[in-house]
Amino acid sequence: MELHWKNIGPLENIPVQGARRLCFGHDGRPIAVFRTSEDTVFVVVDECPHRHGPLSEGIIAGNTVTCPLHNWVIDLTAGEALAPDEGRTPSLPVRIVAGQVHVGLPLAVAGTVA
Ligand code: FES
Repeated sequence: MELHWKNIGPLENIPVQGARRLCFGHDGRPIAVFRTSEDTVFVVVDECPHRHGPLSEGIIAGNTVTCPLHNWVIDLTAGEALAPDEGRTPSLPVRIVAGQVHVGLPLAVAGTVA
């Protein structure tokens, strides 16, 4: 799949062990950009696979986030819920270029970015 790499700004704009919610992304759904304590960045659709809770408001530990609504734990590397829960939220590719965070959007989605 061809991607459009969208620059969403400097890494410093994302709090360490925090997240930013951006209102564009995957099929019109908001995305959440997470930064771990080790400066690893992950991007997933900002909807818990359980009942669409805002993952960007969850607690980050390592490469996981705990949903603020019912405490499902989501592995940010693939967007998968950890057992015993089951489900997945789509993840998007991300890269850091000269301190700027770039999110890889499918071209069909990128065409709708404001
Ligand atoms: S909505 Fe996330 S655990 Fe229920």
